[in-house]
Amino acid sequence: YPLKHPKSEKWTFSGPFGHYDKTQLQRGLKVYAEVCSACHSMRLVSFRTLEDLGYSDAQVKAFAANYKVQDGPNDEGEMFERAAIPSDYFPSPYPNAQAAAAANNGAAPPDMSLLAKARGITRGFPQFIFDMFTQYQEGGPDYIHSLLTGYEEPPAGTQVPEGGHYNPYFANASSLAMPKPINDDQVTYDDGSPQTVDQYARDVSAFLMWTAEPHLEERKRTGFMVMVFLLIFTVLIYLTKKSVYANKE
Ligand code: HEM
Repeated sequence: YPLKHPKSEKWTFSGPFGHYDKTQLQRGLKVYAEVCSACHSMRLVSFRTLEDLGYSDAQVKAFAANYKVQDGPNDEGEMFERAAIPSDYFPSPYPNAQAAAAANNGAAPPDMSLLAKARGITRGFPQFIFDMFTQYQEGGPDYIHSLLTGYEEPPAGTQVPEGGHYNPYFANASSLAMPKPINDDQVTYDDGSPQTVDQYARDVSAFLMWTAEPHLEERKRTGFMVMVFLLIFTVLIYLTKKSVYANKE
């Protein structure tokens, strides 16, 4: 069936002065923790990095303790399970990839740490010309947002395989093994933000952009300073050149 290109959304982190909205990232974390983490791991993200979202030491400790991780071997040579601590990473809910695939109609849910980066340039013509020059970095979040809000009834005559789900945004164009993961009012927000699929999708996409690129703000600041420096440097070089080649008496 026809594949749709992701819709371009507005993100606080786009543009040369882009920045993360911490309250949005906190909501996205809540969506991940209450919904996505039932199937998706984040093996490259440690609990202690959540302090960057504005949480205290104690809050991170308490949050990590909700998760169980494998540890060992102990003195008897056995592996054991224990509550997670801040230096642990978001674990997978499955013991291994085979079990993950078996529980999901043959397709293992991908690890989410870098998922926002895994889908790069996916916009159609004419945007893709612009994208080639600008490293269209919002491609991942746009895609995740479109995917989560894009489930619909298959058009008449379309066969969806057993255990598959119709979603025209799914990049592999075949049927998606992930069932619609989130519905209106599923996650409770305490800051008054709308509890809609659209808002959940925006927040979790922004959160996954942060997990994939935690140093985005720093990178943009450095890039801006580099441009300022180059500008000043160019002027200085030009003045030097003028002075050196001036026809002096
Ligand atoms: C795949 C997002 C919750 C099971 C994916 C993909 C994304 C995603 C972006 C990759 C699609 C691609 O390869 O292009 C999310 C988000 C969730 C969530 C943001 C929470 C709001 C869940 C839950 C389950 C699940 C709760 C299990 C019931 C899967 C599976 C795949 C997948 C099995 C692989 C699909 C395939 O390759 O056909 N998810 N997911 N996801 N997800 Fe989720």
